[in-house]
Amino acid sequence: MLLKEIYKPVEKELVQIEDLLRDSLERSKRKSILKINNYMLVSPGKRLRPALVTLSSKAVSASHAPEAEKQLIKIATSIELIHMASLIHDDVIDHANLRHNKPTINTKFGEDISIALGDYLYSIAFQLVSACGNMDILDCISSAAKEMCEGELIQVCERDNIALLKKRYLLIIKKKTAALFAASCEAGAMVSGCPEEMRLSLRKYGLNFGIAFQIVDDCLDLIGKDLELGKLAGADFKMGELTLPVLNLLSCSRDKKKVMSLLGQQNKYAFQEIRKRFIDSQAFLKTREDASLYLERSKKCLVGLEESCFKQSLSFLADYMENRITYDKC
Ligand code: IPE
Ligand code: IPE
Ligand code: MG
Ligand code: MG
Repeated sequence: MLLKEIYKPVEKELVQIEDLLRDSLERSKRKSILKINNYMLVSPGKRLRPALVTLSSKAVSASHAPEAEKQLIKIATSIELIHMASLIHDDVIDHANLRHNKPTINTKFGEDISIALGDYLYSIAFQLVSACGNMDILDCISSAAKEMCEGELIQVCERDNIALLKKRYLLIIKKKTAALFAASCEAGAMVSGCPEEMRLSLRKYGLNFGIAFQIVDDCLDLIGKDLELGKLAGADFKMGELTLPVLNLLSCSRDKKKVMSLLGQQNKYAFQEIRKRFIDSQAFLKTREDASLYLERSKKCLVGLEESCFKQSLSFLADYMENRITYDKC
């Protein structure tokens, strides 16, 4: 199933979010800022987080009062802006040159612009959240942003740590990625004013979905094709980041010393060799199983929700993620 089909029940809301995103980024009267903002808008990402905000919100209450509907659009837009800001900073941190099949902001405009632009997007995002006047939602989103930054920070500190434990890896991805997915679902539920139990179930759905999402992303960084990813594979390897696929490869390899030595080399040949060993070993299957486990957990969190097209889309999203890991040998 395509993302477009999964997003269908909230397609109207996603158009409004796109409009508000454009509006927020085109408000500046400065030509130099407009030029950079436009560069970002013409190559959008998958918009997964705004889709999760709206689907979660509608899954607990299919229709909203006009005021709540406006709030929903603002919250979803703000979360996408936070995500966009995090990617701009992440590409500086990871020395990445390609995103959405285009040169990254740091490659096209330089690191100074990237840092300032990321901060600018965070500020616009929090302006939008505060305009909603809901302290609980503000707390939910600001806590997630803090977790995300903490996760990025820990990941950088753990670079080249060949003794990294799976537990520590999971902590990093929970913080840097899953926290914002969890907040997307929770904030959507909060806009609907649903019972606490439903809000927490959706939060948990988002958390487990987010963990699986990052495991899949890390797997694709090792085996994916640049054109399909829209970014250059091998970024984690290049930066000395020990991700789950590599940890699984280490734990299932007989010749651990050789794998460790390849990981330490960080050149093209070593990357291809790690990639080949991963695909040919049990580590590939194990990593898929790890991702599936979290996707199953996320789907279980939906059990208590009433049947609806919104709930179904949340479940389809988990299936979509499961199917992202494919490896075409030719
Ligand atoms: C990329 O997230 C960053 C990670 C958390 C792995 P997405 O893959 O959702 O980014 P875009 O917005 O669709 O490019
Ligand atoms: C994404 O991490 C960064 C954040 C979640 C803030 P990655 O560095 O793994 O993501 P990509 O691969 O660059 O998209
Ligand atoms: Mg990166
Ligand atoms: Mg990174």
